Amino acid sequence: MKKVMLVFGTRPEAIKMCPLVNELRARANEFDTVVTVTGQHREMLDQVLRVFDVTPDHDLAIMRPGQTLFDVTCDVLLRLKAVLEDERPDVVLVHGDTTTSFAAALTCFYLQIPVGHVEAGLRTHDIHSPWPEEFNRQAVDIVSEYYFAPTGASKQNLLGEGKPESRIWVTGNTGIDALRTTVREGYTHPELEWAEGSRLILITAHRRENLGEPMHRMFRAIRRVMEEHPDTKAIYPIHMNPLVRRAAHEELDGFDRLHIIDPLEVLDFHNFMAASHLILTDSGGIQEEAPSLGKPVLVMRDTTERPEGVAAGTLKLVGTEEDVVYREFSRLLSDQAEYEAMSRASNPYGDGYASGRIADVLGGN
Ligand code: UD1
Ligand code: UDP
Repeated sequence: MKKVMLVFGTRPEAIKMCPLVNELRARANEFDTVVTVTGQHREMLDQVLRVFDVTPDHDLAIMRPGQTLFDVTCDVLLRLKAVLEDERPDVVLVHGDTTTSFAAALTCFYLQIPVGHVEAGLRTHDIHSPWPEEFNRQAVDIVSEYYFAPTGASKQNLLGEGKPESRIWVTGNTGIDALRTTVREGYTHPELEWAEGSRLILITAHRRENLGEPMHRMFRAIRRVMEEHPDTKAIYPIHMNPLVRRAAHEELDGFDRLHIIDPLEVLDFHNFMAASHLILTDSGGIQEEAPSLGKPVLVMRDTTERPEGVAAGTLKLVGTEEDVVYREFSRLLSDQAEYEAMSRASNPYGDGYASGRIADVLGGN
């Protein structure tokens, strides 16, 4: 029996790893599945674990308020080492590009335990953007032995770096597995009832490189546009980072058509996406989910590692300059043809069965 350990620590990793945890656990005759969470996020991680009914076997509980990259990296390295020495799994699966994933992959490398990278091969090729995620994902791919690439384009990125084709599997993104089970007809929520009759704008923002002035500029642009469009209402489930919260409250408080609310559980958030008119975000995962739902997204970043969504027409990169965000957001509200062109549903990130494919590979099927 193969012992597989999954290591993750933040909300987006959990959303994309829990479907895989449940798939592996359902194949109990093939896999001894061990779940280790680093607790890089606390509340936002626990929300996801609850929704997917996943109870971790180990919790490194590393989160501290205002943690630095040094805190996260050092704590994961040292605490995970002890767990891995005790468990000695045959393979460790990490996800994407967080510092949890990077530090966990490095710990495995030092202990000579094989690493499988779920969501391998995403690239902007700009090591500073997104920061530090582009470094993290490249570093994880240096030490990995299994590459689970979500798309053909991510496979090409890996081949371009000389990774062996025999170790790369195109599986789709496990985030779409989650989406397949969450969006429901007839879903209601008091915040959606509040927004009924208006065009609903859904907002999220958290990227480290956007903290400070870029985030203030984004928020000012959003407020200016919404003030000019009285038929819009916005819901902003805000990240728990205190720096994000301070900037948002400074720029957006006192505007009663925009509600800042606590982070939503993933089931709720996916249904809010489905009910929205358009989305403004700097998130990675939302760029993958939106094309499946046919929801236009203005991506408030300078680069994206998700070119498939741009090619599909759902995503538009608008950066963080106030005037550009203002212009693009205004245009999408006023130009019906542009809006319709961006609203076509497509599935560049998979069919919702990625976890099964990954389990097949690990089981040698
Ligand atoms: C992290 C990841 C980023 C990912 C994002 C998803 C790194 C370096 N960054 O960034 O790639 O896109 O998660 O959201 O790995 N906090 C809480 N409770 C929580 C979560 C966060 O209070 O449940 C607060 C804490 O004060 C914490 C701060 O937010 O110190 C920042 O969290 P951290 O994980 O360091 O960075 P993120 O910006 O969330
Ligand atoms: N999400 C959520 N609740 C929220 C906001 C987002 O469950 O209030 C989900 C969203 O559907 C996506 C993931 O969280 O699956 C994105 O996480 P985040 O933006 O924190 O990180 P990123 O994807 O940028 O790494």
